[in-house]
Amino acid sequence: MKPLVAPSILAGNHAALRESLAEAEATPGVEWVHIDIMDGHFVPNLSFGPQTVKALRPNSKLFFDVHLMLANPDKYVEAFIEDGAQNVTIHTEPDYPHLPTLKRIRELGSTCGICINPGTPVEELEPYLEHVDLVLLMTVQPGFGGQKFREDVLEKIETVAKWRSDKGYNWRIEVDGGVDAETGLQCKNAGADTFVCGTAFFKAADKTEFVSKLQS
Ligand code: DX5
Ligand code: ZN
Repeated sequence: MKPLVAPSILAGNHAALRESLAEAEATPGVEWVHIDIMDGHFVPNLSFGPQTVKALRPNSKLFFDVHLMLANPDKYVEAFIEDGAQNVTIHTEPDYPHLPTLKRIRELGSTCGICINPGTPVEELEPYLEHVDLVLLMTVQPGFGGQKFREDVLEKIETVAKWRSDKGYNWRIEVDGGVDAETGLQCKNAGADTFVCGTAFFKAADKTEFVSKLQS
């Protein structure tokens, strides 16, 4: 699977998101942008809404990878997809019927992903593996950018990579949180192919070099 770096706009300039998006897009090799949506319930922070996605959409050709950290994502998937999300990832942890939501995301024309937090057992992903395009493993407790990478998640990456090769699934394995050139390489060696990078990307002095290191 072709490795991809998805800069996380959460670490961009919130007074000039369009410029941060342009910075990501101007970096050779960047095809995706990661957009974190937080509701103040499932995670203790707030970020963007569908209107942000809608406002950014005409400014970019990047693939919009939308990560819903919401207690009730089903209520919002339609709005996010209408406004420009191309992949929508939901978490297993909140209590709602996940499979119908995943199905609905695809019916609305987006690809779909399933995600677990660092403390959630990897087996919780199993019911969804035949119904998703992406498996997202959080490598920090979600809610804030700039946190320290959790090395204990590497074993989960190895587990899902083994499931993928044993059973012939073709979903991406994405990691999110504290991913920089060094921890990203650890994730890559464990089997990840899609790297969400917030702080590390926007702080990188040489963004082209940063991306090519992870994508090579
Ligand atoms: C964490 C978010 C991440 C965040 C990653 O709640 O899901 O996407 O933007 O930021 P860094 O790379 O700074 O850890
Ligand atoms: Zn995210």
